[in-house]
Amino acid sequence: MINDYVIEDVWLHDGLGSPAQHADLAIQAGCIAEIRYYGERLDSEHDSRQGKKRSLGLRGKERVQGDAMHLAPGFIDVHTHDDAALLLQPSMDFKVSQGVTTVVTGNCGVSIAPLPEGVLPMPLGLVAGGEKPVFRHFKDYVEALKDSPAATHALMLIGHSALRVCTMDRLDREANPAEIRAMQALLQTCLHEGAAGASTGTFYPTASSASQSEITQVLRPLCECGGIFTTHMRNEAEGLMTSIEETIQIGQGLGVRTIISHHKCAGPLAHGQSKQSLARIEQASKSLELGFDVYPYEASSTMLLADRAKLSRKTIITACPRFPAYEGRDFDQLCAELNLSASACADYLGPSGAVYFTMDEADVDRIVSHPQSMIGSDGIPLQGKAHPRLWGTFPRVLGRYVREKGLLTLPQAIRKMTGLSAARFGLDRGPTPRGRICLGAAADLVLFDPQQVLDVADYENPARPSQGIEACWVAGQRVYTGARLAHAEAVAAGCSAARPGQVLSGR
Ligand code: ZN
Ligand code: CU
Repeated sequence: MINDYVIEDVWLHDGLGSPAQHADLAIQAGCIAEIRYYGERLDSEHDSRQGKKRSLGLRGKERVQGDAMHLAPGFIDVHTHDDAALLLQPSMDFKVSQGVTTVVTGNCGVSIAPLPEGVLPMPLGLVAGGEKPVFRHFKDYVEALKDSPAATHALMLIGHSALRVCTMDRLDREANPAEIRAMQALLQTCLHEGAAGASTGTFYPTASSASQSEITQVLRPLCECGGIFTTHMRNEAEGLMTSIEETIQIGQGLGVRTIISHHKCAGPLAHGQSKQSLARIEQASKSLELGFDVYPYEASSTMLLADRAKLSRKTIITACPRFPAYEGRDFDQLCAELNLSASACADYLGPSGAVYFTMDEADVDRIVSHPQSMIGSDGIPLQGKAHPRLWGTFPRVLGRYVREKGLLTLPQAIRKMTGLSAARFGLDRGPTPRGRICLGAAADLVLFDPQQVLDVADYENPARPSQGIEACWVAGQRVYTGARLAHAEAVAAGCSAARPGQVLSGR
């Protein structure tokens, strides 16, 4: 048999945390068709390449010389706000340049479907409305993506705040029984049409009036179909532990897979709490499928809120449609310059986004290196000056947490981006499993140089592709080529025209 593609002379990561093995791999019809091993294993990060043989002779129409670089399952970004970007920026350059091949959208209670037309309250405005599309019916969003696919796969969640906007006349109160029934029916329909689950964001004004009971009732349809529940919790600052209890109770009440989104300890009062929070999550996960994700930065980013700025060492404006000149400016300085209080200034600027330096490095390190944490960027695309996590999250873990800080081994870090995430989100099953490299698995792959891989995006220049990601395949099609491989193959670096992304359901 002649395969579509052969990738030779690579150190293969299975995505489950095993040491890398020297191998050649062949792709046929979007799946991994053959693997041949040289019989060498990388037991330590610092081993250099061992054998001299560079090819085991697999046959393919095209071949890539891996040059002893590392090949891993494509990274799964379990926490994104890429709902609109999949349609508006289908090359998904900010993701494939990190090696990401699947994104989970609709997080934090905000999704672009189902939603009515018209002016949307923040934080829904961060992801939908304006130039960004909204869809009254989830199936129309799925259809739009099938008609014009993106470079990456997507697994979609339905936002509880979006359901509230669809069914309630005002959001500053709890839903009544009729509204709860209407939200259940809407969610049920979306799940039938392929949504993977639902997300909540009780931190935000669009859902902060929703009680635990409202959420447990609205999310009831998840039970019958095995949908997943993710949450941006009510309080990640001084109320962190209480919020974790609420999340556990909702998860247990529903008996569904539960994910704490972007786990963090925000603000000085919460610093150091990750010891307790992780211990509580470990204990609860004995009786509940409870997971959590994290991004490797000490700053968070969301809509501009004066209260959040108070917890922050420094706050930078990311998006400010009303005054674009203020994008990238320091919020405190701006308040002083305009002679306004923080809340008056936030009102004056109008719906905006901001980056907040609210976390302590020790907590971030502890959460990133915990064996059960998954990596999720929480990047917010299609806005002014975004948080650098949008372009840098995955290479940052590999470059800084593995290579520089030595907090994780390479196989451990890769498992947090692939095998663990696929298992949590139900992508590891079915005829073409994802998140690992084995025969028959989907050929979603990333080739990278572990000595070079590094995020380059920073707060000043957040839209920069990372270094060291040399190729990225989605369903067997190459969607991205890095500088070194482009040089070796004498082709152009960057995104290709391939748009092989599929809508995945994970159930
Ligand atoms: Zn969030
Ligand atoms: Cu988010």
